[in-house]
Amino acid sequence: MSANHNGSNLPGQHGLDRGETTDVVELHAMILRERPEPVEGSEPLSLWLVVFIAALLFWAGSYLTHYSGGFRSDEFNEVQINPTPPPVVGGGNEDPATKAAKEGAIVFNANCVLCHQVDGNGLPNQFPPLAGSDWVQAEGPNRIARIVLNGAQGPIKVKGLDFNGAMTPFLENLDDKQVAAVLTYIRTSWGNKASMVKPEEVAAIRKQVATTTPPWNPADLEKIPVSSGAAAGATTAALTPDQLKDALKKLPADQLKAMLQELGK
Ligand code: HEC
Repeated sequence: MSANHNGSNLPGQHGLDRGETTDVVELHAMILRERPEPVEGSEPLSLWLVVFIAALLFWAGSYLTHYSGGFRSDEFNEVQINPTPPPVVGGGNEDPATKAAKEGAIVFNANCVLCHQVDGNGLPNQFPPLAGSDWVQAEGPNRIARIVLNGAQGPIKVKGLDFNGAMTPFLENLDDKQVAAVLTYIRTSWGNKASMVKPEEVAAIRKQVATTTPPWNPADLEKIPVSSGAAAGATTAALTPDQLKDALKKLPADQLKAMLQELGK
């Protein structure tokens, strides 16, 4: 017998030189147990890894700067997504129309958005659009203030489309200031261009309606003039100094003089 020292005679054992074991599984396990000796000290990082980590940190930093919204808590409020439109009349950020529209956006998102939608387009066959609606952009708020106060029910045509639904009244839930603000908001949003609505106008209309007034039939509303004296007054008051100057320039000189003398008294 040649190199076979363990006394076994199986065919597979030929060629094993010291014959410690013939078990292939155990043999492999022994080989796998062999590990390189641990080295002391630190090895230099791969340059690519350093560059990659630097790039990752830079990207993370700029991502945070861009998309953190300044860490403001109101970042995801709908009011922000649908920012207040530019004021109808000129002036800085603090002009009354912008301020009212901002407050109105909050009222809108709490009370109207479910039906009339964030974009003011309503839902086909269910809720009429406010964006581009002639009802909303009428000269005065006489009709829309009544709709918001007492609700509406019955066939209504908006932007040439027929709707026939029911809108809930807000008489008891919104005060004059809130109604005025939300009307100002819908009259100046989504491309709508109409004058702001003042709380006094809403108060005057509220006096004419009662808690018990049933939701308006739009056909009846159409008999009510869109604007009253109060609304016309509000439009004049909303003139910018430049618009006023232009209007004054159109007056004949003697009339202007008389007017200024009248004011000087
Ligand atoms: C429950 C759903 C609902 C809510 C909430 C609602 N509306 Fe309406 N709104 C309607 C429906 C339906 C009509 C049409 C009524 C009809 O068919 O006579 C309407 C009509 C109107 C109209 C006149 C038509 C037009 O599209 O221009 C205005 C203006 C209006 N709503 C404003 C508001 C405002 C402002 C609020 C929040 C204060 C509000 N609505 C809340 C359902 C709703």
